[in-house]
Amino acid sequence: MRPEKLLFVPLLASAALAWNTTTKYAVKEPPLTTDWTYKVGTNPWTEYPRPQLERSDWQNLNGIWTYQNASSINDTDSPPFGKPLANEVLVPSCLESGLSGIQGRDALYSWFSTSFTVPSSWSGRQILLNFAAVDYEATVYINGNQVGFNRGGYFRFTIDATEHVSFNGANEMLVFVHDPVDSEGSVIPIGKQTLRPSHIFYTPCSGIWQSVWIEAAPENHITQLDVDANMDGQVNVTVHSSSGTSVPVEINLDGSSHTGSSDAPFQFTIDSPNLWSPGSPTLYNFTVKLGDDEVKSYTGFRTIAKAEVGGIVSPILNGEPVFMFGTLDQGFWPDGIYTPPSREAMVYDLQVLKKLNFNMVRKHIKVETALFYQACDRLGLLVIQDMPSLRADGVLPDDAQQAEFTRQLEVLINQHKSYPSIATWVIYNEGWGQLRDGVYPEFGLTELVRSIDPTRLIDSTTGWYDHGAGDFSDNHHYANPQCGTPFYSIQSSPFDPTRIGFQGEFGGIGQNVSIEHLWNVQQAIDTINQTYEIDQTLDAWRYRGHSLLNELREQTEKYSCGGGVWTQTTDVEGEVNGLLTYDRRILRPDVEMWSKDLQALYDAAAGRMNGSVPTY
Ligand SMILES: *[C@@H]1O[C@H](CO)[C@@H](O)[C@H](O)[C@H]1NC(C)=O
Ligand SMILES: *[C@@H]1O[C@H](CO)[C@@H](O)[C@H](O)[C@H]1NC(C)=O
Ligand SMILES: *[C@@H]1O[C@H](CO)[C@@H](O)[C@H](O)[C@H]1NC(C)=O
Ligand SMILES: *[C@@H]1O[C@H](CO)[C@@H](O)[C@H](O)[C@H]1NC(C)=O
Ligand SMILES: *[C@@H]1O[C@H](CO)[C@@H](O)[C@H](O)[C@H]1NC(C)=O
Ligand SMILES: *[C@@H]1O[C@H](CO)[C@@H](O)[C@H](O)[C@H]1NC(C)=O
Ligand SMILES: *[C@@H]1O[C@H](CO)[C@@H](O)[C@H](O)[C@H]1NC(C)=O
Ligand SMILES: *[C@@H]1O[C@H](CO)[C@@H](O)[C@H](O)[C@H]1NC(C)=O
Repeated sequence: MRPEKLLFVPLLASAALAWNTTTKYAVKEPPLTTDWTYKVGTNPWTEYPRPQLERSDWQNLNGIWTYQNASSINDTDSPPFGKPLANEVLVPSCLESGLSGIQGRDALYSWFSTSFTVPSSWSGRQILLNFAAVDYEATVYINGNQVGFNRGGYFRFTIDATEHVSFNGANEMLVFVHDPVDSEGSVIPIGKQTLRPSHIFYTPCSGIWQSVWIEAAPENHITQLDVDANMDGQVNVTVHSSSGTSVPVEINLDGSSHTGSSDAPFQFTIDSPNLWSPGSPTLYNFTVKLGDDEVKSYTGFRTIAKAEVGGIVSPILNGEPVFMFGTLDQGFWPDGIYTPPSREAMVYDLQVLKKLNFNMVRKHIKVETALFYQACDRLGLLVIQDMPSLRADGVLPDDAQQAEFTRQLEVLINQHKSYPSIATWVIYNEGWGQLRDGVYPEFGLTELVRSIDPTRLIDSTTGWYDHGAGDFSDNHHYANPQCGTPFYSIQSSPFDPTRIGFQGEFGGIGQNVSIEHLWNVQQAIDTINQTYEIDQTLDAWRYRGHSLLNELREQTEKYSCGGGVWTQTTDVEGEVNGLLTYDRRILRPDVEMWSKDLQALYDAAAGRMNGSVPTY
């Protein structure tokens, strides 16, 4: 043999080996960790991901998948079927997060691959493949066939994979994800995500960032449950079926059975149920049967309304005025970006809010996993749910982009309207993506939301461009509140007493912390001072917090304030204005003082309603 040939062969083999070697998964050290970062492991989010429509025969597909960066939409012309991809990746995660094992930037196009087996006992039933959320567009292939496509980064979708899966051996699944975020020409619901993070805009999330699972169901099966249970014990249910034709359904709730038909609303009544409220978050489990399909769900009995009480328009819960007081809750994590490291971590934030005596949380221009809303239902936290906004940089949607925003708004309401804790929908935040030449779109959108869900309040525009739509006259003002007051500032509108006076955002006071609690990215650290207020010591921060809460209490006593939102639950990247630092390791407030100051707010609102308003 000629020596050069001997040399040549091993080189080729090792090159081929290197090319085909998939990089093993490991957490990439993020710019800041949490106590949960290294506890996540490779078997994350084991809980059934859809607690209001839970099936017993299911299999979690979360875990280690493989991933490869792609360069354009044209990569779908030749999907990498049967080929190993370059890197292992954790699912669910954001590709930009340390927990993904990738921590990439500009993840505009990507391939994901996994393989799964289907229990042979499921043969003869429908095999449903569920994605809780993929940001932003997902094209799904099973065993070489394209089986589905979804657009919208925050919503679940189900693919009937029955015809495409094999019951003998492995099924290959490929997912192509395209996430344009705010790249040139893209105007899509993104919330605070941006390809160029700076100060109040943060690292984006691309990819499969919520759970993936398969389940078995009969041919005609339940696809969605719409449930509203009110303070009078009336339950209004629509059981949607895959056939879309009316068939009998049976609901078992609290020991009694109720029958109706699918695909149209029907009602039944429970005698004197224990009502759901933040102080007493009673939930009722129930089961629904449709033919051979049986699912578990739950609800809570409560009624949300608005009414004039003592001359002031107020939110009403179960017939009583409620002062809704919560935080701006953005749901960002230093290790997971949009995906909390675990359910425990996610619930920790909410438990801190309960401990501080908040009765509400404003889920800010993000939509969470279903387990978040379940946690609010269980803990007793009202939710103000924002629609994720379009771009905040003044680039407005064209007709097609506006139509897609409207479609996704409908999906938001339809997928979330059965959580007892959600009290209010928000359509626009501070004018972001809000057209305002000629016709104001918030009027039509408010009607649309009302037609899908007449049981809740609508905050059509939180902050800035209020033209009179919806149930709230909602002002944003930093740091001091201006809630339902006869004074206001540029960019806000004068208070309108025909609607609920609301302080949709205030506070935002910052207090810098040492580098081990900061998002250690120089460009973020350099923007810390682009803020309303920095308090130099924790004592000063606590004094300021106390002052601002007192100011809101005075406005509640004297004027027409129906609630407010403190900015914010946690620090995020270049912002240091959280109750908690971004790593959740420091809690800034004095818990007892905050709890008392918040109680004083609730008492002030109650006192005003019952006529014991102090005089000035
Ligand atoms: C590597 O991949 C190439 C192309 O997919 C294939 O031809 C080759 O046999 C693979 N090599 C090994 C060592 O698996
Ligand atoms: C994708 O393919 C089309 C049609 O072949 C071509 O016009 C376009 O330039 C390609 N785009 C990219 C980004 O390669
Ligand atoms: C993917 O590739 C593009 C270039 O095609 C690059 O700009 C980008 O940073 C890469 N993203 C990741 C996450 O590797
Ligand atoms: C029941 O809910 C549907 C929407 O799901 C609504 O159209 C209908 O008016 C409600 N009926 C009652 C009696 O509340
Ligand atoms: C409802 O179901 C959940 C989960 O299946 C369970 O943890 C809870 O104890 C049940 N509640 C009641 C009141 O039975
Ligand atoms: C905040 O603290 C970091 C780390 O200690 C420091 O580098 C930065 O300059 C500080 N920024 C401000 C505005 O205080
Ligand atoms: C904010 O901090 C950056 C970097 O530390 C500095 O260049 C800038 O001048 C500061 N701006 C203000 C308004 O203090
Ligand atoms: C009015 O509400 C306050 C605060 O809850 C309470 O202390 C007071 O007793 C109430 N007064 C009447 C007349 O109900």
